[in-house]
Amino acid sequence: MSDGKGTLGFYNTSDLREAARRRLPHGLFEFMDRGNDDEIAVRENRAALERIRLKPRVLVDVSKRSQEISLFGKRQPMPIIVAPTGSTGLAWYEGEIALARAAAAHGIPFTLAAGSMTKLERVAAEAGGTLWFQFYMWPDRSLSHQLIARARDAGFEALVFTVDAPVSTEREYNLRNGFTIPFRMTRRNVTDVLTHPRWLFGVLLRYLLTTGMPRYENFPAHTQTRITALPMGRSTALNATTTWDDVRELRKLWPGKLIVKGIQHPRDAVLAADSGADAIVVSNHGGRVLDSTTAPILVLPQVLAAVKKRITVIVDSGFRRGSDVVKALALGADAVMVGRAPLHGTASAGEAGALRALEIYREEIDRVLALMGCTCIADLTPDHVVMP
Ligand SMILES: Cc1cc2nc3c(=O)[nH]c(=O)nc-3n(C[C@H](O)[C@H](O)[C@H](O)COP(=O)(O)O)c2cc1C
Repeated sequence: MSDGKGTLGFYNTSDLREAARRRLPHGLFEFMDRGNDDEIAVRENRAALERIRLKPRVLVDVSKRSQEISLFGKRQPMPIIVAPTGSTGLAWYEGEIALARAAAAHGIPFTLAAGSMTKLERVAAEAGGTLWFQFYMWPDRSLSHQLIARARDAGFEALVFTVDAPVSTEREYNLRNGFTIPFRMTRRNVTDVLTHPRWLFGVLLRYLLTTGMPRYENFPAHTQTRITALPMGRSTALNATTTWDDVRELRKLWPGKLIVKGIQHPRDAVLAADSGADAIVVSNHGGRVLDSTTAPILVLPQVLAAVKKRITVIVDSGFRRGSDVVKALALGADAVMVGRAPLHGTASAGEAGALRALEIYREEIDRVLALMGCTCIADLTPDHVVMP
């Protein structure tokens, strides 16, 4: 990142966040950036990563380095995965395709949220790369199973079943901002949008001139209609009756890799393995669902000890720096998911911004590996970190 050109002026992920904040309407930025309730978990995610310290080794030849990992038997050049973020298509016109293309260019998996503005078949056709599909169980399970069959037919390789939101959240700022999907004109919204013309012309009007008001394209028709427009982040399409039986059933239905996302308790990690999952994501949803949870990075060692390498363990929530990723890998995680940073990159400059977000992680991980005296991810051990 020496010449200041390829960087687009973004030197770290905070720069991307700031650019997204300026570009997006306030209500939309808050939806994309904030957490739930008092945002204790959001702060805790960062504080925990900051409290973990690195213990480098020196005088190792680190002139040749690789951050390649192998995930589900497939090599990927860097140890991160793009997390599912619903409504990415509101960050940028067809933002899901932009972000998926950036992930493909970096050779890492992109997870499409069922709550996308772009149909899953189009993302598969226009982005390529390694695609994972995330969903929540809908009250009518048969509709979810039909959706999963579509993802399978479109070539998605892994299914991510998010289990940490049996009911929807009441994020107060979303209610206050009144930003809804589908978008509904209110005086407050219209003022917000008019004062962000780049988003108005670059995103909203482009949809209006092509496919119409942006909506959850993968959802059953009745949840897409304007009459049911809900504040962002609120959904009627969640199922409070889901249990481990659903995971076992999905195991029978889904031929590819099955990943349970939103595990925070070591016992649930074991249950996921017992229920046939191939992997879990240790996650508190970036602090966006239940507040006051522990940072996933702090429960990671207990989870790893409990599952004893029976399944792949991915972690997310709060990873903003290459050094954060290195800390998780040193503790034994197989890979790290990143949510907000690539989303902010997409909101800042579309595919170029998403590419830059992933490039920042790549550059930082590379540098930190060298400074740690490691030439590859396998060199990292728990002895390289000091836990709080
Ligand atoms: C705007 C936004 C939308 C999200 N939507 C979903 C979703 O639809 N499904 C899901 O499993 N997780 C969703 N997440 C959570 C992410 O997958 C991920 O767990 C979280 O963002 C990780 O934390 P980080 O943003 O600090 O990297 C969303 C996160 C954000 C920021």
